[in-house]
Amino acid sequence: MTISSALASALPGLAAAELSSGAGSSTLSASATPVLQLEGISLSFGGVQALRHVDLALHEREILAVIGPNGAGKSSLVNVMSGLYRPTQGVVHLGGRRFRQVPTARLGRLGVARTFQNLALFKGLSVRDNIVLGRVNAMRSSFVEQIVGLGRARRERSEARALADQMMDFLDLRSDADRPVAGLPYGLQKRVEMARALVARPRLLLLDEPMAGMTVTEKSAMAHFVRAARTQFDTAILLIEHDIGVVFGISDRVVVLQQGSKIADGAPAAVRQDAAVIDAYLGVAHADPQPQQEAA
Ligand SMILES: Nc1ncnc2c1ncn2[C@@H]1O[C@H](COP(=O)(O)OP(=O)(O)OP(=O)(O)O)[C@@H](O)[C@H]1O
Ligand SMILES: [Mg+2]
Repeated sequence: MTISSALASALPGLAAAELSSGAGSSTLSASATPVLQLEGISLSFGGVQALRHVDLALHEREILAVIGPNGAGKSSLVNVMSGLYRPTQGVVHLGGRRFRQVPTARLGRLGVARTFQNLALFKGLSVRDNIVLGRVNAMRSSFVEQIVGLGRARRERSEARALADQMMDFLDLRSDADRPVAGLPYGLQKRVEMARALVARPRLLLLDEPMAGMTVTEKSAMAHFVRAARTQFDTAILLIEHDIGVVFGISDRVVVLQQGSKIADGAPAAVRQDAAVIDAYLGVAHADPQPQQEAA
């Protein structure tokens, strides 16, 4: 069975056009300035070398997948990109600036939004309120203006609600708008997290395992939303994902990490045939989180 036929059967919700336009059909211009670039990034935790001299560029409207076995350094890479970790060596180029450590507090203003490998939502708040919170970094009104609720603060609040509604429509969450997140199925919670990241209208969206633990149907829906997010909002997307069928089907480029080093970086068709990648990853089973059962 070929990768694309495996993908077609695994992801029945994906349109054939999306599958065929995935691998290797990047619309990028090689000369364009990257949205984000890593230069010689190394990171260690005591004796553990999580990243080793990683160079990486992400271009406008690109879907870049980062794959690799458990512990390869994928989340560490995203944590360096989003400023949670300060690399031991190397720099990050973002928004025309060069950082030794990306300032997490200014991440939204630098045009970057992210989701987490383990859900990071306010479980007691409604779907709508969780998504509105994704606009906080884009708001300019002062604390006092927000308390009083006049002028700019009121405008920003209604703009945030309108954008949240738009994201709920996009991610098919409208009927759950007023439900507390805690009561939602896992797959929907992952979608709420993506909506909260997208509502900031980022130039770059970092998705750390947005499909982990999902049913086949939920994965299919999420794969569709990832591609649609790029098309509709012109967002570059970095996707960490263990499901190789999904990765090769929806990404323009694939980067492979092994023990903190980048061992491949190229079009899916080329990476799929790379001997080092097959040895290090494709030929070896990895521990994926237990998929959830389909609802009866
Ligand atoms: N905060 C931390 N403190 C200590 N070690 C860490 C920390 N974060 C990551 N590591 C170590 O760095 C290495 C890379 O971890 P990382 O979480 O980036 O891998 P990963 O590729 O995301 O793995 P997975 O597929 O399991 O999510 C691992 O050996 C991990 O134990
Ligand atoms: Mg991880």
